Amino acid sequence: MGYAIAEAALEAEHEVTLISGPVNLETPRGAKLFCVSTSDEMFNAVHQHADNCDVCILCAAVADYKPAKISQVKIKKRVGNVSLELTPTRDILDSLGRRQNRKFLLVGFAAETNDVEENAAQKLRAKNCDIIVANDARVGMESDENEVGILFRDGAIRKISRAPKKILARELVKIFSKFATKRFDKKNEAITERN
Ligand code: C5P
Repeated sequence: MGYAIAEAALEAEHEVTLISGPVNLETPRGAKLFCVSTSDEMFNAVHQHADNCDVCILCAAVADYKPAKISQVKIKKRVGNVSLELTPTRDILDSLGRRQNRKFLLVGFAAETNDVEENAAQKLRAKNCDIIVANDARVGMESDENEVGILFRDGAIRKISRAPKKILARELVKIFSKFATKRFDKKNEAITERN
């Protein structure tokens, strides 16, 4: 979905910085690509580039846990089960939502298997995003199609029915771009009034 959104944004003549984990996809032509392989690398890259963006769209399925220890040597096979200790990764979306005076529009994704809208609305508030794109994980994963609900902070919801990800991405880019422009215009009006 991230690559489809990057492509749609480039088509609409936006500048795109794409921070990507390991994927087997062609880089959309014109995107500035930053490749990462761990959640910590993605955390650092996102924080490094966020302030240069008008809209930050976080749709990577970042692992929630990472190994507590990394062995420098091969772990030998032994008899019986093996347990790995896992520690939580840092939540990138949440950390951006907590940034004071952020200027960029913050968009998160929520793939849910049940109570999709309720869970997504809760995530929108908890992670302090401007928009959450919710989808049923059973529909969107490993598929070229998806259907989504777009939740806004004022409680409004827009739905896009099942469509190829490419088409969906174009719609999402239009919606984000319109929302970002409106927000920018409102801020400018407020500044003009104050002056
Ligand atoms: O809480 P959950 O993982 O379902 O939230 C999904 C959203 O949070 C997505 O936008 C995903 O990119 C983001 N996320 C993140 N960092 C994590 C885990 C999820 O930014 N470590």
